[in-house]
Amino acid sequence: MSVLVGHDDPAQQLTARCEHQRHLKDSGVDPALVEGVQMVDILEHVNAGHVAAIPPARQCTLSGNTFDTARHGAGKPELELRGSLQPLGTYPRRASGLLFMVTMLSAQATGVSTCVPSQFGIHKHLSSPHTMLQTLEELYSAYGVELRALHRRMKDWCRITQSCKFCDVEAEMLYMLIRKWRPNHVFEMAPNRGYSSHFILSALSVNDHGQLDSFDIHRAARKYMDPALARRWNFTIMDVRAAVPTAHVGARFMAKYDFVFIDALHTTDFSSWYTRSLLNYPVRCDTPVIIHDIVADMDGGGRESMPVFQYMAFAPDVRHTFTMHPRHAPSLLSHLDNSSVIDMLRSKFGINGYQKYFECNASPSIFFMRQTTRGRRRQAPAA
Ligand SMILES: C[S@@+](CC[C@H](N)C(=O)[O-])C[C@H]1O[C@@H](n2cnc3c(N)ncnc32)[C@H](O)[C@@H]1O
Repeated sequence: MSVLVGHDDPAQQLTARCEHQRHLKDSGVDPALVEGVQMVDILEHVNAGHVAAIPPARQCTLSGNTFDTARHGAGKPELELRGSLQPLGTYPRRASGLLFMVTMLSAQATGVSTCVPSQFGIHKHLSSPHTMLQTLEELYSAYGVELRALHRRMKDWCRITQSCKFCDVEAEMLYMLIRKWRPNHVFEMAPNRGYSSHFILSALSVNDHGQLDSFDIHRAARKYMDPALARRWNFTIMDVRAAVPTAHVGARFMAKYDFVFIDALHTTDFSSWYTRSLLNYPVRCDTPVIIHDIVADMDGGGRESMPVFQYMAFAPDVRHTFTMHPRHAPSLLSHLDNSSVIDMLRSKFGINGYQKYFECNASPSIFFMRQTTRGRRRQAPAA
């Protein structure tokens, strides 16, 4: 018998999920193959002899493995995934003198849609020069006070970490979209020291809803995380590229996420991989996607942009693309007559000028949403 240490979820949720898996198993169904699988859990699989260390109330036994349904937190060895991982398998690694087996396991096969109500209209209106400003005004009017407070809190954080390269208006947009969309599960690759994570988590925290899964190849984000926000944060040290080499694996890995934020390695090779492997499956819920450093140059390109533009040109579900770039907003083809109105608008709600230690003159993120097949069918008659 072996021990599996569950991921960072409230214990009750894990227990409920475990019960559900047990039920599927008892019915002769492989939980990993059930349609509607929406979560890839990463479990540490510790060798025999440790079961006794788990209080009976926290144990959940499936297929000869005992899960610890406790939170994956302090005192547990850090989960570190590198190299050629494959999901749904078990892989040995050594850490702290113990032999661990790392298992990635699909779980929570509820088959029930848990999509939050789509905010399709927000993306639609932000992507048109005719409606962008009015929509921005509505957003800043709703969330400006929160953003002012958040910028104040982050000022000290930025001074300490010197790692706040994400431009003000796009960090604000990230925050406002999460407030508006109220996602269940946010995917972040990667936090570095955690500037973007703090914006995401602050929004989830005010929403009082949702979890953020952040992936990076180093652990710096853990050091700088605000403990008040950590409750909604699952941080995994993982080379996502090695763990998710193909679209087939990506479809499972990404299935639970209904909000995606990508800001990692800025090379075409890397963006070819993530468009192919992470963003290439039919989404279950309408899903906002933000990719940093795409509209980076004055002509609208950038180091990793081309594979992303190619992906967006052919992906059947990409809708309502926009950028906050001062020259190009909302899009390369139909920009605002005068983008300085965005700054004027921010000032109106008390957010004046640069919020950090450097002047951010470009906002290179690209924002779009991926629409479900269901949504596309619903729209068909009107078209
Ligand atoms: C530009 S920084 C992220 C900045 C961050 N979003 C912020 O707001 O400060 C890029 C990060 O991507 C991480 N990274 C690069 N390749 C990665 C991979 N294959 N898997 C996971 N993270 C990766 C790097 O370690 C680095 O921390």
